[in-house]
Amino acid sequence: MSFVVEHRDGRTRGRLGRLVTPHGEVPTPVFMPVGTQGSVKGLSPDELEAAGVRMILANTYHLMLRPGAEVVRQAGGLHRFMAWPHPILTDSGGFQAFSLSERRRVTEEGIHFRSHLDGSAWLLTPERSVEVQWALGSDVVVVLDELVGYPASRQEVEAAARRTAMWGRRSRQAFERQAAGDPAGRALFGIVQGGVYPDLRRASLEAVLALEPDGIAIGGLSVGEPKPLMYEVLEALEPQLPDHLPRYVMGVGSPDVLVEAVARGYDMFDCVLPTRMARHGAVWTSEGRLIVRDAPYARDFGPLDPACDCYACRHFSRAYIRHLLKAGEMLGMRLTTLHNVRFVVRLMESIRRAIADDSLPELRAWILERFSPRGQ
Ligand code: GUN
Ligand code: ZN
Repeated sequence: MSFVVEHRDGRTRGRLGRLVTPHGEVPTPVFMPVGTQGSVKGLSPDELEAAGVRMILANTYHLMLRPGAEVVRQAGGLHRFMAWPHPILTDSGGFQAFSLSERRRVTEEGIHFRSHLDGSAWLLTPERSVEVQWALGSDVVVVLDELVGYPASRQEVEAAARRTAMWGRRSRQAFERQAAGDPAGRALFGIVQGGVYPDLRRASLEAVLALEPDGIAIGGLSVGEPKPLMYEVLEALEPQLPDHLPRYVMGVGSPDVLVEAVARGYDMFDCVLPTRMARHGAVWTSEGRLIVRDAPYARDFGPLDPACDCYACRHFSRAYIRHLLKAGEMLGMRLTTLHNVRFVVRLMESIRRAIADDSLPELRAWILERFSPRGQ
């Protein structure tokens, strides 16, 4: 894998880049829709492609439990299994083991947990996580990490960051074992933890850099801390990040957070928000967030967003989509999902254009006006 920075914004820390993976190139900044179980819920690969998506995220935790890494490997890897020919980044399972599993216990060895599906006992080690991600055929493998929520004591955050450093080294060794003799050029990203403590973030970054990673993920954010604090962490870390590596903020975000993070020098993002929101009947539009499920739209025969060129907006009214959602018709969720995915793709396109012509501050103001935390 390689990454090149092609242009720098003159007025912010924003940058335009190009990520080159075994399954093609991706312009950055990029938002990766989440395809947890090998599917971006409700959409086919054709539809994702038509919406302009060029990279997605999949989850080691889910696919390891079901259908199992071996099934996906036998199918020829996740790209072939799900018929998605473009790049895939896999999350390591650390975050999901924390948020989904039952009776979880962390030791030096790894994360012991019980499956949220059937209660079976599992052990996810750094080595196993890398092996599973390799079996899935991931383009970007991510180290196993431990994170804590917010707020958390300094001791807790420090212990998790230290374990993440140790697991990072074991992940790197496991990755090297897999990569020996493999010409594909897959990438390994390290993860910076350390919560909201600047010195712990710095120490965690040092440990990540020692791994000689292909990219740097920032974890442990968007876990309940106020947004200004998240921005502070990103801002404080940025000058210490090597310029030539892609920087990936995990689990982010909404339009306001995306533009704020890009302006602070970050390149890659993923979040369930656009797709999950859509299934609950909420969409992002050029005028802000709209809950199309609500009563006022029962007789609104205009599109979700007049400024959108997606299939849903070209063909259907708010009234019809609301009706589908209320009636529990599958098409309703598919249309809102399609729209939100297209919206976030266009948002990132406009962010990249704004960096190219040095107008990111103006675009940022425009986005914040419509998607400020209060407006949501
Ligand atoms: N997704 C969102 N946040 C995180 C994190 O801190 N670690 C991992 N592995 N995935 C995440
Ligand atoms: Zn649309």
